[in-house]
Amino acid sequence: MRSLLVTGGCGFIGSNFIRFLFREAGFAGRVVNFDKITYAGNPENLADIARDFPDRYVLVRADICNRDAVKDALERWAVDTICHFAAESHVDRSIVAPEAFIRTNVEGTFVLLEAAREQRKSGLQRFHHVSTDEVYGSLGPEGFFTEESPYRPNSPYSASKAASDHLVRAYHHTYGLPVTVSNCSNNYGPYQFPEKLIPLMILHAAAGKPLPVYGRGVNVRDWLHVEDHCRAIWLILQHGREGEVYNVGGRCERTNLETVERICDLLDEMVPDQRLRPRRQFIRFVTDRPGHDLRYAIDCGKIERELGWRPSETFDSGLRKTIAWYLEHRPWVERVQSGEYRRWMQRHYGEGRS
Ligand code: NAD
Ligand code: TYD
Repeated sequence: MRSLLVTGGCGFIGSNFIRFLFREAGFAGRVVNFDKITYAGNPENLADIARDFPDRYVLVRADICNRDAVKDALERWAVDTICHFAAESHVDRSIVAPEAFIRTNVEGTFVLLEAAREQRKSGLQRFHHVSTDEVYGSLGPEGFFTEESPYRPNSPYSASKAASDHLVRAYHHTYGLPVTVSNCSNNYGPYQFPEKLIPLMILHAAAGKPLPVYGRGVNVRDWLHVEDHCRAIWLILQHGREGEVYNVGGRCERTNLETVERICDLLDEMVPDQRLRPRRQFIRFVTDRPGHDLRYAIDCGKIERELGWRPSETFDSGLRKTIAWYLEHRPWVERVQSGEYRRWMQRHYGEGRS
């Protein structure tokens, strides 16, 4: 693996993955970060990497739907491995404005696969597709998603990711493209855009703003610290079997209410501001998300058995670190919440929501 093209490397998981490659994994090759830099992408997330590894880190600002730009990047940088993160990733946005999800997640993945097929002649060895457990739909109170679970996506986001998974699978079966796929549960950690549950609740609870819990807060998510996800992807890239799917999860199921309450309690302890304690007072039950999946839970036995992967962070240790990170990175939060993101929120939800 000498030249790795990472799509969506300016986003939450992609930027953590690139930092992990340079700082933890001992990766000695070049990383080409191919990112359109939407509202969710921020080159600043990797400023330290750009500074410390100027010869081995390149940022290409372009859209994965742009065939010429993709082809040019693969050829110019002699890419031998692709790790595909780029996507529209927020379920609530996919409900309000699904078009970008179809374009980037489905069409963009198709464009990449076509370019990858061409690049095989120049030595492409692996196409890894980063996907989600949401493609499997929703569970009742019992059971787990396995790699054999049928696809039953329920939101425009998960349907677009399911479509992209199917395309990746088809390119392996039809053209022999050397692919791997990972379907992971909910991630949390540094650099997550503060529209997702955990960072949103941290920032609102820290400021004494309302904490909007959808429905009654009974929906269950399985949480995985982003660094554990990055390690899983790195193992799959190195040792995963071609054509295989790996489920990745934290064995850490929580109802949303439990998660929000834990964030409140940790903040009460970490920032003991008498005017805001107890922060649970800010919890508000609000209108439920349409089509809200009840429960996600992953059986990650396959990646544990085959690749020896285990999550190393517990929810409490991971949450503490994540809360501390958001408290220490206020300027980052303010910057990512301004500009394009704010304008989009105002257009779709009106004034007053952020
Ligand atoms: P994110 O929204 O934080 O980042 C997405 C990145 O993709 C951004 O840098 C954005 O600029 C870039 N991008 C968007 N459209 C693009 C386009 N057309 N061309 C090039 N770049 C584009 O997302 P994330 O949370 O880091 O998720 C990364 C991947 O992991 C996604 O494929 C997502 O489906 C998957 N995933 C996420 C989670 C999670 O909990 N966040 C869990 C499982 C799987
Ligand atoms: P989210 O972080 O958007 O991830 P996903 O929808 O991909 O699981 O949401 C996680 C859970 O939290 C989900 O059940 C919806 C819920 N939620 C709230 O209750 N309030 C909120 O403000 C948000 C953003 C999410």
